[in-house]
Amino acid sequence: MSQIKLFDHMISVGITAKNALSAFDTSAYSTIFCLVDENTEKHCLPVFKENFKGEFQIICIASGEENKTFETCTEIWRQLLSNGANRESLLINLGGGVICDTGGFVAGNFKRGISFVNIPTTLLAMVDAAIGGKTGVNVDSLKNQIGSFEFPEAVYVMPEFLNTLTEQELKQGYAEILKHALIADFDLWQSLKSENVDFATDENLLAKSIRIKTSIVEEDPEEKEKRKLLNFGHTIGHAIESWSQNNSEAALSHGEAVSIGIIAESFLSYRKSNISFDELKEICDTVYLYFNPVYLAEDKLGEIIELMQYDKKNKNDEINFTLLKNIGIGIIDQTASKELILESLEFYKTFPDRNYIAQK
Ligand SMILES: NC(=O)c1ccc[n+]([C@@H]2O[C@H](COP(=O)([O-])OP(=O)(O)OC[C@H]3O[C@@H](n4cnc5c(N)ncnc54)[C@H](O)[C@@H]3O)[C@@H](O)[C@H]2O)c1
Ligand SMILES: [Zn+2]
Repeated sequence: MSQIKLFDHMISVGITAKNALSAFDTSAYSTIFCLVDENTEKHCLPVFKENFKGEFQIICIASGEENKTFETCTEIWRQLLSNGANRESLLINLGGGVICDTGGFVAGNFKRGISFVNIPTTLLAMVDAAIGGKTGVNVDSLKNQIGSFEFPEAVYVMPEFLNTLTEQELKQGYAEILKHALIADFDLWQSLKSENVDFATDENLLAKSIRIKTSIVEEDPEEKEKRKLLNFGHTIGHAIESWSQNNSEAALSHGEAVSIGIIAESFLSYRKSNISFDELKEICDTVYLYFNPVYLAEDKLGEIIELMQYDKKNKNDEINFTLLKNIGIGIIDQTASKELILESLEFYKTFPDRNYIAQK
């Protein structure tokens, strides 16, 4: 039975989530709306309907990151208004990170704030996007520029939704779960090293990963200090993601880019004498269970490092990192020179044949 408390709301996982959803008390709400996209309408709404007893109206938006916009919010606000929503209405976000981010922002700002619940349907949303209160939308190609902190009434994590996700979509979540284990949970890390991990059937793994995020958010809800731990793998990961979107025929997903970031930033942790070479190798081998290696052309590595200098987390021209103190313990506010970062990307390039460079 998995129930995790975050501030004053509950995140239920697995069978507990189904039971809690079936027992959901709708009497406090004047009208209920369920926000879906065309994929979650097809794959997830039928399961939701089996478990949720109340009446509701459906609002369907087009799927995809390109629709995480203020224009989509306006469209949802119009639909809410024309269908009688008021301050006592409830919005149920049934979908991945795009639905949870957009729906949370819509609810938080409709008539100065109505209640909402999150029912994440992707692995990434289950362990990350639906948890922690960050909501928002993109402006043109700039991600998450408009947003606010809004906490749901409850979150229901139902792993069976993962059965209709593609491997490519699952990978988005793998990267964040590997990150959670590396920064905060040695036991979870041990479980992830197995060849047969299946998040759709092992709700304990999901719950452990969610608990890491909630405990960090609880200590630092507005991202002042401790929440920086969640940036592990993301300083180099974000630069690679942006670089690949501008330069590559097949742009890397966020999860794929973060998988490279995890290896490169683990290398930085090794070179700063925090983790041993054997631990570094163990991290690489485990990431390799979930991700295929990506080829990074030698002459592009400098461009990736240039992109890191624009990262909003940097101060005084130094590139700021969250690194590992050990496997299972992250450490914030670390810096690395450009030369060392370049070396970390060179190290990643040895990943495909796993002929790791051992010199210090
Ligand atoms: N708020 C936060 O703290 C936070 C954290 C991490 C990521 N995010 C945001 O999350 C977003 C990415 O989330 P995502 O990866 O879930 O993407 P997504 O919401 O776009 O979902 C990915 C795709 O899977 C489809 N889908 C969703 N559930 C499905 C299911 N069960 N079966 C079949 N198809 C399904 C969707 O329709 C979509 O096409 C980004 O916008 C990112 O900025 C937010
Ligand atoms: Zn991420």
